Amino acid sequence: MSSALMQNYGARELKFERGEGSYLFTKDGERYLDFGMGIAVNSLGHCNPKLIDALTDQANRLWHTSNLYNIEPGEQLANKLVGSTFADRVFFCNSGTEAIECGFKAIRRYFHAKDEGHKNRIVSMSGAFHGRSLAAIASAANPVHCEGFLVGDPGFEQAEFGNFGSLLCAVSENTAGIIIEPIQGEGGISVAGLEYLKAVRELCDSRNILLMFDEVQCGIARTGTLYAYQQLGVNPDILATAKGLGGGFPIGACLATEEVASALVPGTHGSTFGGNPLATAVGNAVMDTLNNADFLNNVSELGNYLKAELSILVARYPQLLSDVKGLGLMLGLYCLTDAGQLITRLQEQKLLVVKAGGNSVRLLPALNVSKKEIDSAIEIISKALSDIENN
Ligand SMILES: Cc1ncc(COP(=O)(O)O)c(C=O)c1O
Repeated sequence: MSSALMQNYGARELKFERGEGSYLFTKDGERYLDFGMGIAVNSLGHCNPKLIDALTDQANRLWHTSNLYNIEPGEQLANKLVGSTFADRVFFCNSGTEAIECGFKAIRRYFHAKDEGHKNRIVSMSGAFHGRSLAAIASAANPVHCEGFLVGDPGFEQAEFGNFGSLLCAVSENTAGIIIEPIQGEGGISVAGLEYLKAVRELCDSRNILLMFDEVQCGIARTGTLYAYQQLGVNPDILATAKGLGGGFPIGACLATEEVASALVPGTHGSTFGGNPLATAVGNAVMDTLNNADFLNNVSELGNYLKAELSILVARYPQLLSDVKGLGLMLGLYCLTDAGQLITRLQEQKLLVVKAGGNSVRLLPALNVSKKEIDSAIEIISKALSDIENN
C-alpha cells in the first residue's frame, strides 16, 4: 500500500513495534540496540516504568484544560527548572522549534519594550540547527533547509561557530541577540570552547545584546550536567530546551531571566497545548529522575568510558575514522569514508545511530544506558569497521 504521508522524510523501511530500555523490537521480534534514542529524546530509554506511571496517573485524572487555567504539574515543572538553572521564568511549548521561536520573540520584544526597536537582529552560527519553522531555518541559514522558503530579509546574521573575530564582524548596533548551541548536534558534534563562550558573554554585556543558548539537543543531563552551559561557565539570558525533557512525550520550554521574560506580557505569546498536564507530568518525572548528582555523575562516567572506547577505534582505524568529539553521552564519530555506509553496516548489525553534519555518526544513547550495553555497541562498531576495512 502506498503511503498517504507527505514524502518529506523520504523512504523509511524499518519500523518498530515496541521498546524497552535501550532496545527497540520489530514485529518479528528482532532486537535493535538504540544509540539514537529518537535523536536524543528518550532520555530514560524506551517505556521507562516511572514515566509510564507518571503519564498513566495523569491520563486517568486530567488531559487538557488550556492555558486559560492554572496547570499544577506545569507550575511544579517550571519551579524545578528555575530552581536548577539561571532562569527565573519558563514558557512551555511542544517542541524545540517552538522553544526557539519563543526565545526569538522574547529577544525582539525585550528591546521593543525599551523603545529600542532598532535592535531587532539576531546572530546565529555556521553549522547551527534550530528547527524547521521559518525563523528557525532563517537563523541557521542552512541552504538546503532554506531553499524556496524565505522571502525578504528575515533579520538574521551569521558568524562562524567558535570564531570570535567572525562574531565581532557580524554584530552591529542593531544586534538584539546571539544564539548558540553550546554543543552543536545536527551540524556535527562540536563543543564551543570555554574561552570563546566567555568572550561572547562579555561582548553581549558590553554591547547590550541578549545571549540565547539552544540546548534542545545538548540539555537535560545529556552532557553530565542538567544543561551543558553549567559546565561551560557562562550563563545565557534565554535558553531553549525540549527533546529529553519529555523522555519521549512532546514538550519544549523557553527559560529566561526575569528581565527578559517581563517583556512577554499577557497577549504577546501563547500556545494551546504548551504546558499541558500530560506533558508536564512526564517532565516532572524526568526531572525527578535525572536531576541529581548521582545520575549526572553516572552520565559523565559512562560518557567518558564510551568516548575512550571510541578513541581506541579511531586509533585502530586511521583510514576510516578521524576523531571523536563531544561531551557526556552526546558523541560524534568523524569518518574519513562515507558515514552513511558505516551507519548502514551498524543497522545491519542491529545498532541504531544517527547521521550528523561533517560526515559524522552521532551516538546518543539513553542516559541510563548500562556499561554492558555500551560494550555491545563498541563490539558492533568495531566489527563494522573491520568489515569495511576488509572489503
Ligand atoms: C539544537 C536543536 N535545536 C532545535 C531543534 C528543533 O527541535 P524540534 O525538532 O523539536 O522542533 C533541534 C532538533 O533536532 C535541535 O537539535
